[in-house]
Amino acid sequence: MDNEPIVLLSSREIDKMRRAGQLAAELLDHLAPMVKPGVSTLDLNDEAERWTQAHGAKSAPLGYHGFPKSICTSINEVVCHGIPNAKQILKEGDIINIDVTPILDGYHGDTSRTFFVGEPSPLARKLVEVTEECLNRGIKAVKPGARIGDIGAVIQEYAEAEGFSVVRDFVGHGVSRIFHTAPQIPHYGTRGKGKKLRPGMVFTIEPMINEGTWEVEVMADKWTALTKDRKLSAQFEHTIVVTEDGVEILTLHPALVTS
Ligand code: MF3
Ligand code: CO
Ligand code: CO
Repeated sequence: MDNEPIVLLSSREIDKMRRAGQLAAELLDHLAPMVKPGVSTLDLNDEAERWTQAHGAKSAPLGYHGFPKSICTSINEVVCHGIPNAKQILKEGDIINIDVTPILDGYHGDTSRTFFVGEPSPLARKLVEVTEECLNRGIKAVKPGARIGDIGAVIQEYAEAEGFSVVRDFVGHGVSRIFHTAPQIPHYGTRGKGKKLRPGMVFTIEPMINEGTWEVEVMADKWTALTKDRKLSAQFEHTIVVTEDGVEILTLHPALVTS
């Protein structure tokens, strides 16, 4: 995916990305109150699918390279790409990342958040808060003329200073009509390295931050990625566009969009 050219979107296309992104944010807001002990990850999946269809959209994950469900649900030591399952029941103290990608009018809105099931342990709370701050710092590094390496550098510096590690095996990605395209956005790296950011580039930033080792393993189902040491992992994701003077987050709920 990284030898493709980086496409610059027109304002008409960015508007479609904004609508898809806002729908994705609304979907997470809709699912959030369901995140409680006793709910299965399949319950979350099925409600996401129903809501997505009711809003005239399609679930991009469903059937994507054979992925069997409509959303990804990644609990505790699962880093990403957890598959919803009726037998997997949320329990008090879990952390769960829900990753949604509705396609609206041909364009993808890709966003995820990590939620607490009841009260988290102090360590789980810290990991989740640091991960969200990693995403926010990564977004702040985006402006025309900055480089892709600047994003990873600020994320890695903050995560490691807080005693955590950055997953290497999965990266942010260009997204538009295509789910995963150029550029790749590593969440680690070196300031001043990598391609220059230009207005109209649209991509995700989606740091996965681990309590222990950054190394991951993929389960026999070929999807579920988990930490090698089985310690916790958290993730947050937004789809963003590089603007003339900085950055716009496309996956915000309409009520939160100020400009
Ligand atoms: N939404 C994920 C991402 O952030 C991709 C999920 S692909 C799937 O890129 F096939 F696992 F759904
Ligand atoms: Co993504
Ligand atoms: Co995603």
